[in-house]
Amino acid sequence: MVGDPRTVVARKRDGMAVPAEELEAFVLAYARGEVSDALAAAFLMACVIRGMTAEETLAMCRAMVASGATVSFDLDRPVVDKHSTGGVADGVTLVFAPLAAALGLGVAKLSGRGLGHTGGTLDKLEAIPGLRTDLGPERIEDQVRRVGCAVAAQSPAIVPADGALYALRDATATVPSVPLIAASVMAKKLAVGSDLIVLDVKAGSGAFMKTVEEARALADACRALARDAGRRADVAVTDMSQPLGEAVGNALDVREAIEILRGERAGRLRDLVVWFAARALARLGSIAHEEGVRRAEAALASGAALERFRAMVEAQGGDPGVVDDPVGVLPRAPLVLPVLAPGPGVLAAVDAEAIGQASVELGAGRRRKGDPVDPAVGLIVGVKIGDRVEAGQPIGEVHARERSAADRAAAALLAALSWSEEPVTPPPLVHLEEGRS
Ligand code: URA
Repeated sequence: MVGDPRTVVARKRDGMAVPAEELEAFVLAYARGEVSDALAAAFLMACVIRGMTAEETLAMCRAMVASGATVSFDLDRPVVDKHSTGGVADGVTLVFAPLAAALGLGVAKLSGRGLGHTGGTLDKLEAIPGLRTDLGPERIEDQVRRVGCAVAAQSPAIVPADGALYALRDATATVPSVPLIAASVMAKKLAVGSDLIVLDVKAGSGAFMKTVEEARALADACRALARDAGRRADVAVTDMSQPLGEAVGNALDVREAIEILRGERAGRLRDLVVWFAARALARLGSIAHEEGVRRAEAALASGAALERFRAMVEAQGGDPGVVDDPVGVLPRAPLVLPVLAPGPGVLAAVDAEAIGQASVELGAGRRRKGDPVDPAVGLIVGVKIGDRVEAGQPIGEVHARERSAADRAAAALLAALSWSEEPVTPPPLVHLEEGRS
């Protein structure tokens, strides 16, 4: 880059605005390997502490898109892209992508890896033996045309700057920042030429945004970036005050997603996927939301969505047998420790971040940049806020490599659950949706 990159960091450190062209040059130079991790980490920390202006956020997002190629489509059907800002047991994409494909939409999605205490779609999908997510632009386009859906990674070809910064943020405690998350999420969305971007902004103990108000700010920042690029976005703030599904890991999440696709599992994760699929259909197909729900339910019941999942797995080199025998095909941890309710009561609150962190400690996430993840380990959390349990009732499982790690994770899970003697109303699934404030 022209000039000394330390001046960009110094400006941000001192609370001054960084001119758009300098910020863009800094991000692009980092992506080319010309700025060190140390300097980039200092910059990110300054952004977390000082915040970023709307112009800086836009410059960062634009630079990340410009760091690689973009994907465009010329298909006979509308293309939808969806993204979550990060949560615990958040397997929405694993079900949404094949479901929306079964409903006649094209789904092209660049996903992320686990970040902080949250799980990542790529890590989950790669738990399927053989499955690859390093698809180039042509391959994504071709797969969406043939199969209906593709879920791929940032790569040296597409938004490489986000790939590099994302991993660095994970390793340097610089994730929870509205502008950094908005730029990262939207760079991946703007690099893919979809007709509709569906954004799932999470709020609650398992999200980076702990309150609905903070999540609203993130939703607004993402919407502004979409608007600037002339793109259509549908943004909702959804509940992450407890794990969305039951599985907090990688292979465990894939198993849960397949069970939903096979029509074997109900619950909040399934309900939210159906809600998002119906919204996408309503927006792109000009039908009523209720009709979208009916069609999404039918595509799950008929097995059409499951068949799209099988085709996507096969197209990305994975073992399609996972659909028929997830337990046999997916990696399994040698030790499964049941977790029992400590007493009678009603689940009142959950520290979902602590549960996500327990899963990271087991090896399902990364402590250092570039660490491998263990696809087999994780937790099952079988209770939801408002559920009444009896003492000794099984409420979860720890899947671990060794007993001491399993005991620590079980203790962390129990410590993350708060109980009441009184009835507790479950939180809503969706806090805010487009068109309603
Ligand atoms: N998801 C992303 O893609 N980026 C973030 O920064 C957080 C969640």
